[in-house]
Amino acid sequence: MEPTITLDGGLTVPKLGYGTWRLWGQDAYDGVRTALDVGYRHVDTAQGYDNEAEVGRAIADSDVDRDEVFLTTKLKPSNAAAADVRRSTEQSLRDLGVDRVDLLLLHWPAEDHAPLEETMQAMTALVEDGLTRAIGVSNFPSAMLRRAYEFAPLVTDQVEHHPYLAVDAIEEVLREHGGFVTAYSPIARGEVADDPTLTEIADAHDVTATQVTLRWLIQKPGTVAIPKSGNPERIRTNFDVFGFELSDEEMARIRALDRGHRLVAPADGPDWD
Ligand SMILES: NC(=O)c1ccc[n+]([C@@H]2O[C@H](COP(=O)([O-])OP(=O)(O)OC[C@H]3O[C@@H](n4cnc5c(N)ncnc54)[C@H](OP(=O)(O)O)[C@@H]3O)[C@@H](O)[C@H]2O)c1
Repeated sequence: MEPTITLDGGLTVPKLGYGTWRLWGQDAYDGVRTALDVGYRHVDTAQGYDNEAEVGRAIADSDVDRDEVFLTTKLKPSNAAAADVRRSTEQSLRDLGVDRVDLLLLHWPAEDHAPLEETMQAMTALVEDGLTRAIGVSNFPSAMLRRAYEFAPLVTDQVEHHPYLAVDAIEEVLREHGGFVTAYSPIARGEVADDPTLTEIADAHDVTATQVTLRWLIQKPGTVAIPKSGNPERIRTNFDVFGFELSDEEMARIRALDRGHRLVAPADGPDWD
């Protein structure tokens, strides 16, 4: 059975989710159908991924009840003004074909478009009005995250996190507020597959270095991971990480691989910790 995180308010979040960035049209539909078939119960999309309709249709057509799927979408930064937060979320719900999402994130810091306080308050109102069960942010460095908590009851910060990129300062802020880290690009876009340390640990458990990486992330308290694959076999093996456990020593060896290696760094991105 897949581990979950249960938050103070009772929200339950499956620790391994299915990422859908760069999956479009039939590929997005097929990917989500396969993911649900092999056991994923958490799906990550965004207004900016241009696949909400296919993701929603795949969930609706699957054998899994909508209530059993934890569904996340994200606001484009250009939708950060209060009226746009509501209008674009209503559009996302129509595109996804659902009454509400489980988690709504602000995809990137968006103070060029609206003050942080305004966006956070508008997102909070959507929880109160039942359009989403919870809210969070994405790509917020720790100081900005701390500031956002002054305005809104956030549950997560979705950030790049894998063995080569630790996020200690963000984890600390989230821990203080009872939130969790959502690790994106969790297998460093496939780079972990040939890592000598991860491969050595993998051999001891008769699994792959990618599986060790995903196991490491979900075995860390307060961490959720959302690997993406468009390949049915890799979708399945990425989810097959519940049959072994890493020792404390193995967890520490993987933590020591951190070298501040960031893959997602747009020119207009935030100043990272
Ligand atoms: N909030 C944000 O700003 C943000 C940014 C980036 C990503 N995300 C979210 O996080 C999700 C995952 O991140 P990501 O897509 O950047 O990176 P990722 O999940 O670390 O890696 C995906 C890449 O690795 C390959 N791959 C998947 N499983 C593999 C395996 N078992 N062995 C070898 N290669 C494998 C995939 O190719 P195949 O498809 O061919 O298997 C794909 O090229 C995204 O889909 C999105 O939902 C969010």
